[in-house]
Amino acid sequence: MNVLLTGGAGYIGSHVLRALKSAGHECVVYDSLVKGHRRAAGKKLVVGDVADGQALRKALAENKIEAVIHLAAFIEAGESVVEPDKYFRNNTMIGLTLLEAMRDCGIKKMVFSSTAAVYGTPARVPIEEDDRLAPINPYGASKLCVEYMLSAYAAAYGLGIVSLRYFNVAGAHPTGEIGEDHQPETHLIPLVLQVPMGKRPGIKIFGDDYETPDGTCIRDYIHVCDLADAHVLAIGAVKAGQVKVFNLGNGEGFSVKQVIETCRKATGHPIPAEAAPRRPGDPARLIASSKRAMSELDWKPKFPDLPTIVQHAWQWHQKNPNGYGDK
Ligand code: UFG
Repeated sequence: MNVLLTGGAGYIGSHVLRALKSAGHECVVYDSLVKGHRRAAGKKLVVGDVADGQALRKALAENKIEAVIHLAAFIEAGESVVEPDKYFRNNTMIGLTLLEAMRDCGIKKMVFSSTAAVYGTPARVPIEEDDRLAPINPYGASKLCVEYMLSAYAAAYGLGIVSLRYFNVAGAHPTGEIGEDHQPETHLIPLVLQVPMGKRPGIKIFGDDYETPDGTCIRDYIHVCDLADAHVLAIGAVKAGQVKVFNLGNGEGFSVKQVIETCRKATGHPIPAEAAPRRPGDPARLIASSKRAMSELDWKPKFPDLPTIVQHAWQWHQKNPNGYGDK
């Protein structure tokens, strides 16, 4: 299939791109390179903003695109609390621009990058897809708005959509050739690994008074390559007029303190850590039930254990101490 990936030069997008290519799809990356990296994008790159509907239509038509994987977004829950406009503009509004462009070009298939943040503070874990949707930060709300738009477009125009709700994506390609390079970095595992890299003296734990066994937030970490594989399966599962939703996580939660300990073991570095105030917009606990993805998509994670996820991230950072070196 001819597939266009918005945000395909980003951390997740670049891994999805590789997985799609390995499965035999023809891929074009559409990325503004504001956050993404040219080196991560492969050869077929159109530099453009999803907000630019005309440029987008041109890219869709010229490349005879049959399906879109929409990954482009701002992703920092904490930032979204203080700058919500950025999130509703860049996530929600561009979602509408993309849907309109797809409708005009007669493209009927989409896989959407959604998030665990749509659940807010869950009433129970593991979270199932039909559990209550109640985001507690504008990031989650901005993505949930797009999910609502997708349902409306599927019903009105027969689009087929698969929405993938990612939990905490981490790790890197086992080759060490592509990995995580956010500027600035805000995610826990790459920040912790900056300590043994000599880039920061220690790590701050955002809140140690949550109602969890060690007081720190619990998250469900998923290997970026396992996440990427789910996109390949999702694109094959798209059905006209239907929206399907899948959680993607490993079904096991790790606290911030446990993640830091795993990084200490992987790197052999003491990694000093100190408690700091809570970060706004953080729920105490997010753990996925991915039973639906396993049964309906036949998704099987290859790297479900946290030490392997951390090991692959560590390998990438050691091989590429300055990331892609372009920012
Ligand atoms: N944390 C720290 N110190 C840091 C950085 C993070 O204690 O220096 C904590 C956070 O407070 C949180 C946990 O580590 O409790 C994980 O934080 P991340 O920033 O790595 O990830 P988030 O859970 O905030 O968000 C990520 C993605 C979102 C996605 C979400 C789904 O960034 O896009 O996972 O679970 F929606």
